[in-house]
Amino acid sequence: MFKSLLTLPLTALLLVTGTALAEGKAPILIKFSHVVAEDTPKGKGALLFKKLVEERLAGEVKVEVYPNSTLFGDANELEALRNNEVQMLAPSLSKFEPFTKQLQVFDLPFLFDDLEAVKRFQKREKSRDLLRTMTAQNIYGLAYWNNGMKQLSANRPLPKPADAKGLAFRIQPSAVLAAQFTALGAKAVPLPFAETFKALQGGSVQGTEGPWSNFASQKLDSVQPYITETNHGSINYMLVSNPKFWTSIPYKTRTELEAIIEEVSQRVGDEAEQINQRDREAVLAAGRTKLVSLSADEHAAWRAQMEPLWKTFEKEIGADVMRAAQTVNRR
Ligand code: SIN
Repeated sequence: MFKSLLTLPLTALLLVTGTALAEGKAPILIKFSHVVAEDTPKGKGALLFKKLVEERLAGEVKVEVYPNSTLFGDANELEALRNNEVQMLAPSLSKFEPFTKQLQVFDLPFLFDDLEAVKRFQKREKSRDLLRTMTAQNIYGLAYWNNGMKQLSANRPLPKPADAKGLAFRIQPSAVLAAQFTALGAKAVPLPFAETFKALQGGSVQGTEGPWSNFASQKLDSVQPYITETNHGSINYMLVSNPKFWTSIPYKTRTELEAIIEEVSQRVGDEAEQINQRDREAVLAAGRTKLVSLSADEHAAWRAQMEPLWKTFEKEIGADVMRAAQTVNRR
């Protein structure tokens, strides 16, 4: 090879070696960090994204997935994304509060009747616009992903809102979630997701909220004797990159990545409810926690207690966004 190269004219030689260099170029690396286990809607979505990218863009793009806060956790992952130390995340929407107040709409208790209503809202223009509200802060929204409806766990049953009085609940850092527990006469303690199990086990908090998949994958049922099935909200995610990195990807490759994201988002959306249903059954079958189901009157009492928060946060969220969100329930 070397001998035959020597016989080529200079321009041809440059062309050959240039192509060879281009071919030898390192693939674009996407580090995708998240805080949950792999066998959850988000964990599975991240792995499916990696699989499809490595099938369809082999040699061009490589994806490394870091689950369970192993690379970055709640405290530093968004900073790492903005500094391009990691190129993809899917934080829950509550965690974007320092960058935009408008996403608080997703935290408002009892605003959405079920996950289908949340998904309908995410397809609306007002919701699509929210994907790009943080671009100036170096956060570029690519898609919404969902987990499941949130339940309330505690060291006692909570059939009535007054039952939560005096307890301390671990929350995500969110003014809406803090107000939700304050309205119950309870204490809200913002903690990173990775610290939830220890805080419940040690007793510094006595309750928390989350979807069945997070209860099961974090084994929270082993430190919470009761789960009250309130379905009072949901855990939703935004798949994000940073705009400088994302727009630096060559157009054709980026278009393929965005098509993959669309496909994966659809799959995450289709499977999330099944995963939560599976985990609900597993938690109940394990028998470490007791299920507290609400009667229609109890559910209405919970809702009535929480609904005033919608008005409190309407100004920050925007009346137009609130209006759009309030048209998606099928009641
Ligand atoms: C997650 O599902 O990403 C974690 C949510 C939480 O912090 O409770």
